[in-house]
Amino acid sequence: MVTRKVACVIMTLLVVLRSGRSIEGHLEGQRRHPNVIVMIADDLGIGDIGCYGNHTINTPNIDKLADEGVKLTQHLAPAAMCTPSRAGLLTARYPFRYGLAGEYGTLRVALHIASQLGLPFSEFTLAEALTAYNYTTAAVGKWHLGSNCGYFGNSCNSPKLHGFQHFYGTLGSLLEECRGDHPFFVFPFDKPLYQGLFAAWIIGVALLIAVNVKLQWKLSLVIGCGIFYTILFVLSWFAVTHYRFHTKQWWQMSYWMHKYMNGIIMHNEEIVQQPIVLDGFTQNILNYSTKFIEDHATDDNPFFLYHSFGHVHTPMFIGPGMSGRSKHGRYGDNIEEMDMAVGVIMDTVRNLGIDHNTIFYFVSDHGGHLEVLDENGQRIGGYNGLFKGGKGQGAAEGGIRVPGIYRWKGRFPAGVSVDSPTSLMDMMPTVLDLVGIPPVHELMPNMSQNEVDGISIAKLLFRQSNAEPRVFLHHCAKSIHALRWAKENYVYKMFLKRHKYHENSTQCGWGIYAFCNCFDVWDISDEPLLFDLSRDVYEDHPISPNTSEYQEVVGYLRSYLSDWEDSVHYPPSQFNSVWNSMHSFWLQPVCVNCS
Ligand SMILES: *[C@@H]1O[C@H](CO)[C@@H](O)[C@H](O)[C@H]1NC(C)=O
Ligand SMILES: *[C@@H]1O[C@H](CO)[C@@H](O)[C@H](O)[C@H]1NC(C)=O
Ligand SMILES: *[C@@H]1O[C@H](CO)[C@@H](O)[C@H](O)[C@H]1NC(C)=O
Ligand SMILES: *[C@@H]1O[C@H](CO)[C@@H](O)[C@H](O)[C@H]1NC(C)=O
Ligand SMILES: *[C@@H]1O[C@H](CO)[C@@H](O)[C@H](O)[C@H]1NC(C)=O
Ligand SMILES: *[C@@H]1O[C@H](CO)[C@@H](O)[C@H](O)[C@H]1NC(C)=O
Repeated sequence: MVTRKVACVIMTLLVVLRSGRSIEGHLEGQRRHPNVIVMIADDLGIGDIGCYGNHTINTPNIDKLADEGVKLTQHLAPAAMCTPSRAGLLTARYPFRYGLAGEYGTLRVALHIASQLGLPFSEFTLAEALTAYNYTTAAVGKWHLGSNCGYFGNSCNSPKLHGFQHFYGTLGSLLEECRGDHPFFVFPFDKPLYQGLFAAWIIGVALLIAVNVKLQWKLSLVIGCGIFYTILFVLSWFAVTHYRFHTKQWWQMSYWMHKYMNGIIMHNEEIVQQPIVLDGFTQNILNYSTKFIEDHATDDNPFFLYHSFGHVHTPMFIGPGMSGRSKHGRYGDNIEEMDMAVGVIMDTVRNLGIDHNTIFYFVSDHGGHLEVLDENGQRIGGYNGLFKGGKGQGAAEGGIRVPGIYRWKGRFPAGVSVDSPTSLMDMMPTVLDLVGIPPVHELMPNMSQNEVDGISIAKLLFRQSNAEPRVFLHHCAKSIHALRWAKENYVYKMFLKRHKYHENSTQCGWGIYAFCNCFDVWDISDEPLLFDLSRDVYEDHPISPNTSEYQEVVGYLRSYLSDWEDSVHYPPSQFNSVWNSMHSFWLQPVCVNCS
């Protein structure tokens, strides 16, 4: 693992020496490599913003980004959940290749800041590649790819160990639990578990007294035993109150624990806020990002900023003065606040005069969450436009087709759309290509080109050529639910598994943590459903199995799948072990001098 990274650095230097001339050639007339700014939204649906057809939400800044850049209309997430999708984005590789995908009955995202799972150290990220080329790099906002593992201080999944020199934000995900007050001391006497606990303590103390009466122990021994016994009682109370080991969801914790253990803002290794103050979080991380841009705008070295919004995931929090502005309640306000932040970042870059030397990329990690409700039972999840399904589902278009906009003022054509399918995993190859750095498999000597799943879409962005035929896999946790084949003017999607949606809906229940199950599904792999998305975006009119079109496409995709399964080995899921998924309190970052 470590040797692989060392080899990478050596290789990078060799590549630089070898290709020095061509890089210089590429940079002719430019002071330095262009800056790169990635802005990623959380759970934002493709139907939620103006430039993708929403007429009732105001997103003037994101729309402007699209007006001045290239809008991707079939931009696909490698997974419909945060952690695996973001991992794919940063590594250009399917998250299943390094165990970052759930299995039957497991978690599907990193839940605790202090847990062992996350983006493995051995993976090579865009930030590492850019760091090797002297970029100044920062990750700001939500990370959600793990932080600590091994032992305390060995933060092997943290942004710092993945090439980000600066980090400001939250290592986990913002959760509903971060909002409101949650009690620490609770002892619900109406619950049998607590009645049992209390009874055990009473019986223990009574026994102790009885034994003492009979055997005439020393008083100190009796008191010692009593204290020891009471400590056991308190620890048991703590475990059943604040952990969930006794339930099926053993990885969970109480609201109080989530709020104080996971709701933390960190600046590099230091805690700056615990628990997190939600209202104003957007302005807080925005301040950090704009300062980062200002500080590095005139450096000799370019910068890479990965700005990851808390919006528009629950809890829906709003900064001062931003509430009640949209036509769509708290959710709409969230989108408009995020749009405001996009505008501030764009203005900062423009005012510093580095607009022409800065590549922007705006994206959402996956589609809107259909099931999610607020505390009043009102829907607060995103809108996935014309597409079926949403977050957490396997292949349903609404969960994986997301907004994606690239802008490079003066270089990319302005106001155009690319309709052929592209992936979030294309970011790393594309950015390396655009800034003139060799491709991933050349930077990583031990990685062949077909171990990199993303490709450079630079030519599409420059409108220099049409897309080549391409196959995409759509997983739900670790299970392959569908394959997509884009060729010429067709986009075929072959479903092997279908979710058991609730009646007359394209979702699975209601509730903040309600998601479709990836494994308890209709298995239709004997006679897959086949759609042509270029004619049928809502996936409602399957192509008849009698046709030669069906035979040809399904035949091709089946053989593609069998080659894939023969050649790509998925390691065991990291989520599979209790050890990995649970809150590892010995890894918990603690605040030494917080106010
Ligand atoms: C705009 O987005 C909101 C919020 O998700 C949604 O409720 C509404 O249906 C969308 N409107 C249109 C016209 O797409
Ligand atoms: C990075 O900076 C160092 C020191 O300024 C320089 O020697 C090296 O050539 C630079 N590397 C690249 C890839 O530009
Ligand atoms: C962000 O910066 C502005 C202007 O410098 C300041 O007024 C504001 O208080 C800051 N907000 C936060 C949340 O730090
Ligand atoms: C790298 O090299 C090692 C040992 O030669 C090998 O086991 C491994 O599969 C190679 N590939 C990757 C992607 O690490
Ligand atoms: C589903 O739709 C059908 C036809 O419109 C209707 O008869 C049925 O009652 C609906 N079921 C539910 C649970 O809404
Ligand atoms: C498909 O073929 C079956 C028999 O092989 C036939 O009964 C059916 O009508 C055909 N369907 C279509 C849509 O052509």
